[in-house]
Amino acid sequence: MKILFYDTKSYDRESFEKKQAEYPEIQIEYLKSELTPQTAKLAKGFDAVCAFVSSDVGTQTIKILNQYGVKLVLMRCAGFNNVDVDQAKKCGIKILRVPGYSPEAVAEHAMALALTANRRIHKGYVRVRENDFSLGGMLGFNFYQKTAGIVGTGKIGAAMARICHGFGMKVIAYDKYQNPELDFVTYVTMDELLAQSNLISLHCPLMDETYHLINRESIQKMKDGVILVNTSRGGLVKTEDLIAGIRERKFFAVGLDVYEEEKKNVFEDRSDEIMESSVTARLLSFPNVVITSHQGFFTEEALSAISETTLENAMAYLENRVTENEVT
Ligand code: NAI
Repeated sequence: MKILFYDTKSYDRESFEKKQAEYPEIQIEYLKSELTPQTAKLAKGFDAVCAFVSSDVGTQTIKILNQYGVKLVLMRCAGFNNVDVDQAKKCGIKILRVPGYSPEAVAEHAMALALTANRRIHKGYVRVRENDFSLGGMLGFNFYQKTAGIVGTGKIGAAMARICHGFGMKVIAYDKYQNPELDFVTYVTMDELLAQSNLISLHCPLMDETYHLINRESIQKMKDGVILVNTSRGGLVKTEDLIAGIRERKFFAVGLDVYEEEKKNVFEDRSDEIMESSVTARLLSFPNVVITSHQGFFTEEALSAISETTLENAMAYLENRVTENEVT
C-alpha cells in the first residue's frame, strides 16, 4: 500500500518511521504541503492519503482524490469536522481516524495551563531571566479545596476530573451523559457549574449546540475571579465576549490551547509577520491570559499512539477488516 502523507512535520515523520519497520506492506512518501484541492492531484498513483486537523478534506478534495484513484483517507487525529464524509461515501472512499490517542496528554496540558495562568508562571519565567525577582502582580490562589467544573466528562474530561480530584479540589461536572467511573464527581446543571466553579475546564466537542457555549450570558453567570481553560475547540468560546469579560475583571485567569482564530497559526512559525488584525494579539495583551498553540496532544505517548493506530487502520483496510475507527 502506498500512502502519501501530507503536511509532514519532523516529529510526525520520526514517529511514523519508528513504527513503519513493523509494517513492510506499507510505503509512505512524506510531503510538506497541506492537503487541499490544489495539492490533491499529487496523490495520483497512491492508494491512500494521510491528513490532519488542518487539512482541507472537503468536497473538492475528495472528488479529486477519487478521480486519481485514491480509496482511503487516513486521518491521523480524532476530529473529522474538516472531512466531507457524505462525498467520501458517494465516491467509495473510506475515512479512518484515531479516536482517543491519549486523553491524559490533553488533560495534563489543561492543568498545566490552569496552573501557569493562576500562578503567573509565564510572568515569573520572563522576570527572573531579567534578574527581576519581585513578586508584584503574581499572587495566585490555592486549588486545594476549591471547586473545579468540568464541561464534558468523556475521555479527556474524565482524566482532567481525576487530576483535579488529586489536587484536593471538589469536582463538579456537566455532561448530557454521566460517566459512571467518576464516583467522586457531582453532576450539576450548566448554570450551577458556572455559578459554583473556581476553575472551569472545557472538554466537550464542538457541535452546533456547543458553538459559543461560553458567551456574554454564560460569562455573567460565572463566579467572579474564575479561571477558564479551553483545550477542546476554539468555537466553544465567543472570543469577543471573553475579551469583554477579561476587561470587566470577571476572570482571574484564562488558559487557551485553542481559540477561534487559530487556523492560520496552528503549527506555523509566523514570528516574522506583522499581524494586521488579530484577536490572538488582543488576548495576548492581557497579563492573566496564557495561550499555547493546540499542543495539548503533543506528547511522546500520544504521537506514538497516533502513528501506531494510523498504520493499524491502513492494515485493517488492506486486509478488508471492519474497524470501529471508520468514520461513517
Ligand atoms: P469524548 O467524546 O470522549 O468526550 C466528549 C464528552 O462531551 C462526552 O462525554 C459527551 O457526552 C460530552 N458532551 C457532548 N455534548 C455536550 C454538551 N452539549 N455539553 C456538555 N458535554 C457534552 O471526547 P474526548 O476524547 O474527551 O475529547 C474532547 C474534546 O477535546 C474533543 O472534542 C476535541 O475537540 C478536544 N481535543 C483537543 C486536543 C488538543 O490537542 N487540544 C486533542 C484531542 C481532542
